[in-house]
Amino acid sequence: VNNTQASPRPTRHLKLAPSLLAADFARLGDELRAAEAGGADLIHVDVMDGHFVPNLSLGPLIVEACRRVTSLPLDVHLMISSPERYIGAFAEAGADIITIHAEATPHLHRALGLVRESGAQAGVALNPATPLAVLNEVLPLAELVLIMSVNPGFGGQTFIAESLRRLRAARALIDAQRPGCLLEVDGGINHETAPHAYRAGADVLVAGSAIFGGEGGVVHNLAALRRAVQADD
Ligand code: DX5
Ligand code: ZN
Repeated sequence: VNNTQASPRPTRHLKLAPSLLAADFARLGDELRAAEAGGADLIHVDVMDGHFVPNLSLGPLIVEACRRVTSLPLDVHLMISSPERYIGAFAEAGADIITIHAEATPHLHRALGLVRESGAQAGVALNPATPLAVLNEVLPLAELVLIMSVNPGFGGQTFIAESLRRLRAARALIDAQRPGCLLEVDGGINHETAPHAYRAGADVLVAGSAIFGGEGGVVHNLAALRRAVQADD
């Protein structure tokens, strides 16, 4: 046995998911085309109901409009109570991934099953205070785990540093129990926090203000974010 050889680094392909929440909704088509031109891997769509989170955003109608403009996978993040009620509507609107919060339903297992039956891929999201242990129960049903690095509801918040420890622990659970499941991080991702989040095990980085905000433009911002992570790798 040759154990002097260094074990190969796990291959993790960085995926960038611009969050539409920070886009200009009056120019949604242009914003989506710019994200696509800039090499975005997914389009992250934040759905808020003013109940699970203290904000309202958009529904299946907008998802359906996005579907007509882009061929990128639509990663729909449901920040809504009793998400079971709307899984069918979002799947029909063209969602590729439907992510449900563990805190949003007493029937998480059933809800993830319903997403899979709808034909979409199922994601499970955890707020910053939710124990990771729930993942042990539902990982077999999930294609994506979303670790929130802010308390959901608003764009432009500061990355919670503790999230790095949670990402490392979630990565270990995924590698042991469900290799291939994506690990996504959402909230406060920018050129400073992105390299840390990636190194901690995230493969999908959601970013709203860092991509659609600021002066540089979407294509430039995407490239800068990717460079920041790769320079660190
Ligand atoms: C927060 C949303 C995020 C938000 C991220 O509740 O789930 O997707 O758009 O925004 P930034 O990247 O600005 O923190
Ligand atoms: Zn989100």
